[in-house]
Amino acid sequence: MIGVIGGTGNTGRAVVKALEKKSVEFRCLVRDSEVAKQKIGETVELVHGDVSDHSSIERGLQGCEKLFLLTGHSPALAEQEIGTIKAAKRAGVNYIVKLSGGDAVATEDCPSLIGRSHWQIEQALKESGLDWTILRPGFFMQNLINTAGMVKGQSKVMMPLSSTVNIAMIDVNDTGDVAAEVLTTAGHENMTYFLSGHAYTLEDFSSILSKELGNDIPYLEIPLDAAVKAMKERDMPDWLIDHQSALMSIVNSGVAGATNDNIAKLSGHAPRTLEQFVSSHIDLFKN
Ligand SMILES: NC(=O)c1ccc[n+]([C@@H]2O[C@H](COP(=O)([O-])OP(=O)(O)OC[C@H]3O[C@@H](n4cnc5c(N)ncnc54)[C@H](OP(=O)(O)O)[C@@H]3O)[C@@H](O)[C@H]2O)c1
Repeated sequence: MIGVIGGTGNTGRAVVKALEKKSVEFRCLVRDSEVAKQKIGETVELVHGDVSDHSSIERGLQGCEKLFLLTGHSPALAEQEIGTIKAAKRAGVNYIVKLSGGDAVATEDCPSLIGRSHWQIEQALKESGLDWTILRPGFFMQNLINTAGMVKGQSKVMMPLSSTVNIAMIDVNDTGDVAAEVLTTAGHENMTYFLSGHAYTLEDFSSILSKELGNDIPYLEIPLDAAVKAMKERDMPDWLIDHQSALMSIVNSGVAGATNDNIAKLSGHAPRTLEQFVSSHIDLFKN
């Protein structure tokens, strides 16, 4: 039996879909079953599990040998996930697949708390005595959905990111396919896999979008200061603003453009392209 934490989120829903295709036994640990049913359907086995309450995780994982572990951004990320690893071990889990940050972000000295937290969790997992696999995906294509409002309202895409820097972009469905493979086949124990997808620029994104929509959607790079001011005006917490700013600086430095063939090797298919992603989400960008 595989336990899944984070199954109702962007990546987790893709993991659930991929595990369903493999017809393996799994259960999702969720904070709210009613909300979870709306997000992932009535047929998935659900039990209560909140990573802020480690006894609920220990109860929810009884009978599971494996765990897929992902939680959303939180200043308590390290505490939540390190406690979850310990609770999983007490429950009898012997193998954990952790969804971490990308190679450029999950570092000991990352300026973002989230990046440093992922690094700390990785160390705790490696020292846990359990078998583990760490998945380090790059920039999610799904992040681009956040531009849908400005595309609909102002017919442009604006971000504090260089228009020409290469960014390795991954569709979360590829991460889902890789995670399901790693969870159900041997030979991935104690491995860290960076998952990259193909590299694109934001100019590429705006021209693919323009072509799909049939009208010109230019890309405009805005200064990071202006983006920080807008985040403050939206009352975003400081730790999240720091995280977003650190990510943007990392991406603008060009290090997030590195690619490899791990998705093809692990999932058996080529990474999904940005053209496929835009085409399948195009209705979100239309009024
Ligand atoms: N965005 C990127 O480009 C990128 C790139 C690389 C890595 N990452 C990493 O990917 C992760 C985010 O992935 P995502 O976008 O798929 O996440 P997401 O959509 O934000 O989903 C978060 C999941 O965690 C669950 N969760 C949150 N708090 C919980 C709690 N206290 N107890 C139990 N479950 C809880 C949520 O459940 P509910 O349904 O209850 O909310 C949801 O299922 C982060 O760790 C991030 O650092 C992101």
